[in-house]
Amino acid sequence: MAINKNKLIQAAARARLRAVAPYSKFKVGAALLTKSGQIIAGANVESASYGLTCCAERVALFSALTSGKRHFIAAAVVARVVGGASPCGACRQLLAEYAPDALVFMADSAALKQVRESTVRALLPSAFVIVP
Ligand code: THU
Repeated sequence: MAINKNKLIQAAARARLRAVAPYSKFKVGAALLTKSGQIIAGANVESASYGLTCCAERVALFSALTSGKRHFIAAAVVARVVGGASPCGACRQLLAEYAPDALVFMADSAALKQVRESTVRALLPSAFVIVP
């Protein structure tokens, strides 16, 4: 399955427009690509009790996992950050657990063509895992 980077970033950018961020006003979109070519997207959702806020990456990941998707080969994150948005530590941990082999594309919503690329492994080396 070839990775269509632009399509994945576009999906994250579209999801970003559905962010529910009334407190920070900082909208983030994320999209995951499965081995079979499916794309699952999500956006951040904030709470008045700030700590309950859920990042876009986790919304996308939880949505994908609970609709039976596995085997993620890439993720895209889009936010209005110069140089592209980088997933927070909590999201890196979840990605390391459920998308360990994924590439990560990070883009600024104002410059979608300028993409920073990394991998889940590089973003969180020595991730906490429990080997059954
Ligand atoms: N946020 C994400 O959606 N992903 C990240 O990786 C970092 C932060 C969201 C959470 C909150 O709604 C807003 O960005 C400001 O922190």
